Parts: sequence; C-alpha cells; structure tokens
Amino acid sequence: MKDVLNDKLQYFLKSLLPERDELLLEVEKYAQEHHISIVEAEVGQLLNLLVNLTKPNKILEVGTAIGYSTICMARGLNCGAKLTTIELLPRRFALAQENFAKAGVADKIIAINGDAKIIVKNLSDQFDFIFLDAAKGQYPEFLNLCAKLLKPGGLLVADNVLLNGWVIDLNYPERRKKTMVYRMRNFLEDLKDNPDFINSIVPLGDGVALIWKKG
Ligand SMILES: C[S@@+](CC[C@H](N)C(=O)[O-])C[C@H]1O[C@@H](n2cnc3c(N)ncnc32)[C@H](O)[C@@H]1O
Repeated sequence: MKDVLNDKLQYFLKSLLPERDELLLEVEKYAQEHHISIVEAEVGQLLNLLVNLTKPNKILEVGTAIGYSTICMARGLNCGAKLTTIELLPRRFALAQENFAKAGVADKIIAINGDAKIIVKNLSDQFDFIFLDAAKGQYPEFLNLCAKLLKPGGLLVADNVLLNGWVIDLNYPERRKKTMVYRMRNFLEDLKDNPDFINSIVPLGDGVALIWKKG
C-alpha cells in the first residue's frame, strides 16, 4: 500500500528513523522486489516502541507475510514472552521462518501456517497485544474475532486503515476495490461508537489504528 502522507513529509519522517540492521533492510528489499506488502519502516518502529511500552506477555499477529513486522515486535519482547503469528501462504510462511532464525528471534515465535479466520476461532489463549495486518476487506470480521481474544487493558493495532487515502472518498477507488473500502469505512465507524474500546487513528505509513480495550 502507498503512504497517505505527502512525499516530502514521508521522506523527512523516514530520515529520522534509527538505522535498520542488514536483515531488516534485506527483508524490505525482498518485499519490494516481490511485491509483498509489509509495514513501512516507521510503522515497524512504532510497533517496536509499543511492545517496549506495553510489555506484553502474549502477542498475536494476523498476517505474517515474510516476517518483517514480526521481527520488529519480537525484538521488543521481554524474556519468556511469546508471539503467535499466522500466515496463509506456505511460501511466505517458509521465508518468514528463515527470517526469524536469521534475526535470532525464532524461540520467541509460534508461527502457524493457515487461514487466520479459522485458526483465530480455535485459539484458547488470551493476548495482551494483537497486530492485525491481513486482508483489508476482512477487518470487520477480524475485529470481532480478535476482540474476544484481547485481554481487558490490551492493545489491538491495525495497519493500512486509511487504504491509500481511499477511505476518505468512496467515489475514488476502482470498482473492484469498492467493497474493501466500504468494509474498512465500516470498521472505522464501528470503532468510533464501540463502548468497549478507546481508539486513535495515526496517519503514519498507510494509517495505523491503535485500539485499546478498556480494562
Ligand atoms: C500486509 S501482509 C502482512 C505484512 C506483515 N505483517 C509485515 O508487515 O511484515 C498481509 C499478509 O496476510 C496474509 N493473509 C491474508 N489473509 C489471511 C488469512 N485469512 N489468514 C492468514 N493470513 C492471511 C497474506 O497472505 C499476506 O502475506
């Protein structure tokens, strides 16, 4: 997805990021060359900060791709804390596992290959941090599923909620993107009126929703 901020501001924000190590740069390059959508580096930095701040014992990630955001979060985890991450596509799942080993975080990660819509329903754990980054048109469904697994006082973070800026103007996107955009609008509207959560939309990268479950 493209960033929603203008290029000049985006460039400036990127220039203020701490130096990424060789592995993260390599994963960014691979993702770009193979058209795999991953979080922007500044969103990776935000995830790392949030994990350091909230000190979760159990993280759930929906949508691993090749493990970039997983590594950003895992590097902030305390000793003994675990991150469960789910990816649908076997090839991406395999690459992610390789990247976890290279990053030295494999022991902190429980990686699951399969459809998160089914897997999440069968998870018995409760999580204090959930990162939602799978199919954008399924966010309303995933919000319901994830809300049940999120502990009171836990944080749900969702990426790409501004969808390239398309959520602002429903007339803008191509026909085939309309359903996804309508669903994302519903997701954001539902959050606004949901008494169980306090949320804030941060226009960083492609838009990040920070959703705190009252506890
Ligand atoms: C935006 S990418 C994830 C990027 C990753 N979080 C990162 O920033 O490094 C979304 C991923 O979700 C996966 N996905 C989509 N629907 C899924 C589902 N129902 N269950 C599991 N994974 C799914 C896609 O295959 C894709 O790799």
